[in-house]
Amino acid sequence: MTTTSTETLMEKLTSLCKRRGFIFPSSEIYGGINGFWDYGPLGAEMKRNIKEHWWRSMTQDRDDVVGIDSSIVMHPRVWEASGHVESFADPMVDCKSCKSRFRADKLDEYRAEKGAKAPPTGCPSCGGELTDARKFNLMFKTFVGPVEDSASVAFLRPETCQSIFTNFKQVQTVSRKKVPFGIAQMGKSFRNEVTPRNFIFRSREFEQMEMEFFCSPKDDQRWFEHWVQQRFDWYVGIGVRKEKLRLRAQTADELAHYAKAAFDVEYEFPFGWQELEGIAHRGSYDLEQHAKFSGKDLSYFDEETKEHFLPVVIEPSAGVDRTFLTLLVDAYAEEQLQEGEERVVLRLHPKIAPVQVGVFPLSKKLAEPVLELAKSLRKEFRTFYDEAGAIGRRYRRQDEVGTPFCVTYDFESQNDNAVTVRERDSMKQERIPIATLAEYLRGKF
Ligand code: GAP
Repeated sequence: MTTTSTETLMEKLTSLCKRRGFIFPSSEIYGGINGFWDYGPLGAEMKRNIKEHWWRSMTQDRDDVVGIDSSIVMHPRVWEASGHVESFADPMVDCKSCKSRFRADKLDEYRAEKGAKAPPTGCPSCGGELTDARKFNLMFKTFVGPVEDSASVAFLRPETCQSIFTNFKQVQTVSRKKVPFGIAQMGKSFRNEVTPRNFIFRSREFEQMEMEFFCSPKDDQRWFEHWVQQRFDWYVGIGVRKEKLRLRAQTADELAHYAKAAFDVEYEFPFGWQELEGIAHRGSYDLEQHAKFSGKDLSYFDEETKEHFLPVVIEPSAGVDRTFLTLLVDAYAEEQLQEGEERVVLRLHPKIAPVQVGVFPLSKKLAEPVLELAKSLRKEFRTFYDEAGAIGRRYRRQDEVGTPFCVTYDFESQNDNAVTVRERDSMKQERIPIATLAEYLRGKF
């Protein structure tokens, strides 16, 4: 197997995503808009698979976490209480000559990427002089109602978790959960990033999958360790190579204003080790702040000890789009085939692959029984029917989008009631009776 050079892997992935309908630049017919992306037919399917898998493992598979789905625009006081109005800002510098804008804390990273020989104070793209750093708040502002004045200012949420804190009491009451328990939510978040980059890695509109786990300050450490391990294992469970993942404790100067401690799950991207997910120990910061700003009692009453206390929070916070990018990067391979031919293959986990089974008639004349077969497989598997082009080309097309199995119905199938099943990674072919095909595939998944 030949691995692709790291300089061009991101370009190859971006072009594959566009060509095959995973991801397009947003509003492309108008020239695009920096930091915004659209998921096409295969991308939308794959994104749903990621989210469904997260939702299942975080809520349905356990009885100590429940889910919510809240509004994106919240009362503006929420963001004062959370500390976002005050401190959710990045330091920004401008180059005086070429006018490029950078995050002051990421200058070394940009320089390393460009291989620039600029002096440490110079600008990464042209070597020009930089302005002093200024703080830039990352929240998108909007107005609620017809009047655009300071009283109607609202924000698009920069993280999904705040509505979990504001709903803590209600959810706890209606679900009759006792601490320790968690509340999970997935959905869109918005950040006016200074420099969106690396395809969907850092964008201005993205999706998060967050869970706030409320526990007693007496057993917070145990839960912190539990969630760090559980979240690391989740990525391995959806097929990410373990050797490309690592856990890293955040240093004191990296910690967000609310965090007491945090671990990042990091992946080795072509542009270096980067955060995929953060698992933070938020203490009781958020409930304390919301209690203070709203004037409402958000404490929890423990019926056994007859004590009121503010639970502490352990938060695993993941990005849907970053997980998506990780899965693509990790799955992508170019292989030299025996005949001197090359193939591109996405070795996606069957749970995640947008298409699970490709179904082909060897000739268009055989379409009818194969359409029937596709219809029955569709009840259970994400199935794609294709009758166009030589069979080898149809296999390649499915390899490129990560389809784990292809089923070919040929002229012999009419006599032996069997089909050829081709496995994506080994390219091995097996003859399987149609009557047991679903069972065979189920076993493989
Ligand atoms: N509630 C905590 C929180 O939001 P964060 O580290 O700022 O923490 C959590 O974000 C995760 O959300 C990140 O690990 C990343 O996966 C994703 N994320 C954050 N900013 C992003 C961006 N601009 N583009 C894509 N994903 C982003």
